[in-house]
Amino acid sequence: MISVGSNILSIDQLEMGDIKRILQVSQQMEPYARRQKITRVLEGAVLGNLFFEPSTRSRVSFGVAFNRLGGSVNDTTGFQFSSMAKGESLFDTARVMSGYADILVMRHPQEGSVKEFAEGSIVPVINGGDGPGEHPTQALLDLYTIQKELNLEFNDIKNIRVALVGDLKYGRTVHSLLKLLSLFDSMEFSLISPQILQLPDQLIELLKDRGHKVSITNELRSGIADVDIVYITRLQQERFSSEEDISQYQGNYSLNHQLYEQYCKPGTVLLHPLPRDCRVGARELDIDLNKLPSLAIYRQTDNGIPVRMAIYAILMGVVDSVHTNARDVYWSRPSDAMTSIE
Ligand code: CP
Repeated sequence: MISVGSNILSIDQLEMGDIKRILQVSQQMEPYARRQKITRVLEGAVLGNLFFEPSTRSRVSFGVAFNRLGGSVNDTTGFQFSSMAKGESLFDTARVMSGYADILVMRHPQEGSVKEFAEGSIVPVINGGDGPGEHPTQALLDLYTIQKELNLEFNDIKNIRVALVGDLKYGRTVHSLLKLLSLFDSMEFSLISPQILQLPDQLIELLKDRGHKVSITNELRSGIADVDIVYITRLQQERFSSEEDISQYQGNYSLNHQLYEQYCKPGTVLLHPLPRDCRVGARELDIDLNKLPSLAIYRQTDNGIPVRMAIYAILMGVVDSVHTNARDVYWSRPSDAMTSIE
């Protein structure tokens, strides 16, 4: 169970009540995330945003979500520019950074590193991705997206058929999402990957132990038929030891418009944690799907803001103060004006 001051390191920590609360508070954060209202409830607080692996979405959305609550953000990117390159330990780095900031987000290439880091911190730590381990806040925003796309009340999140495609071995977002979805009732999972990149055995066992229907296949076409959600992932090239291994699997599980029309049920929702690999020869989710209404990938990334705002508000004990301190917004973005002209 999470509360004020908790770390968020793994989906394993969450109980159903936590998940319900995070999704409810995320919904309450929507007007602030959409810039219809302003709150400064975290004014004076500092986020230490430490990314020692490449990132666009997570790093920026963790920062922007904190800004939208009125807090300030201090970013650190790149191992080579940190004192860990001089041999400093995760423990020492955490203790030092937690003297400068009120909450920390960390991404690091080694599985288990964020947990080790959290042991040195005197402020809450959020796992922004630990190698092939977990990415718990991505899973929460994925679940929030699934709830919205399928138009479900919280108690109706069950009996969902989900196909997960691609690199299920190293894809940390898949690991966290499956742990999360497996807490709900009667799910059906279609796990589609080459055998060598299959979901780790302990996760397959977890899904089965919790009573869900699991099918494992290396065949994309049959695997994506008759599901509600297709969740596609990139080949995690940075976790492979050789170029040869990468080329063996790259592009093997590419979904394009023609395959979607032929094999998916109409309206099947397409998700991807992003980044997708748009290079020729990869393209696990082809750009020819960009205009498909069921392609929810950008709604999914947008959802990162209210969900991360909700997590900060819960961990920093300000959920009830957000609305009492709210103000209206008097400006508009150029893109808002464009939308109204069109
Ligand atoms: N989904 C995700 O973690 O994206 P980034 O690697 O860009 O943060």
